[in-house]
Amino acid sequence: MRPEIHANTDVLARQAARHLIELSRASIRSSGRFILALSGGSTPKGLYKKLTELEYSEKLDWNSIHIFWSDERCVPPDYPESNYGMALKSLINHIPLPPQNTHRIRGEMEPQEAATTYERELKAFFFPGHVEPPGVPGFDLILLGMGDDGHTASLFPRAAALHEEGRWVVAHHVEKLRNWRVTLTPRVINAAHNVLFLVSGRDKAKCLREVLQGPYRPDELPAQVIRPESGRLTWMIDARAAELL
Ligand code: 6PG
Repeated sequence: MRPEIHANTDVLARQAARHLIELSRASIRSSGRFILALSGGSTPKGLYKKLTELEYSEKLDWNSIHIFWSDERCVPPDYPESNYGMALKSLINHIPLPPQNTHRIRGEMEPQEAATTYERELKAFFFPGHVEPPGVPGFDLILLGMGDDGHTASLFPRAAALHEEGRWVVAHHVEKLRNWRVTLTPRVINAAHNVLFLVSGRDKAKCLREVLQGPYRPDELPAQVIRPESGRLTWMIDARAAELL
């Protein structure tokens, strides 16, 4: 897997915005809509802010775009840790996205209920009218980041969720963070038509080399479990994160 290496986080955000616009145009041309799952954390914030700039925002047909999340911290939306809250401030409050096109994970709910509720919303959105869904949600693009321990979404090292074959969404307590998280499972992420990792910073360099060039050991390096069946996987990283490649 050869990552795209960009000089700095601003170039990374601009390139990611261009990539997202291209994918949205292709999806809307072929299916009439673009179904996107946002990542949390700090790296994607630069992309979200870029998408609010006229040069990029005017190239996006927001009426045909639906925004979901790849994971969420189990906190209310107004908490600083909330991925939804971050996206609201850096993107959604600044674009003409119809309110019904936002599909958040309810971090304020009891975690298991939040996971069940989100999975029910995915079923209703992707497979309306089906009691038993005939397949797995096919997101047009899932954005992901990577922690310096190799986690992605809220799939952390040695998490049982890494081997979840049935459910699309799970809630679990992350010991290291002393917090509950809700996350898409690898089954859903790997069914996406496109997956884009955005990674920046020198602190990620060592782990990134292990993930991209080292042996396959997803229990230690969960980002390695992301191998889309038929979708396209793209890594966009900045020069600092690429230092050891
Ligand atoms: C989250 C994200 C998580 C994030 C990584 C990288 O909810 O925090 O889903 O997987 O992408 O921790 O975060 P940074 O981009 O802040 O380094």
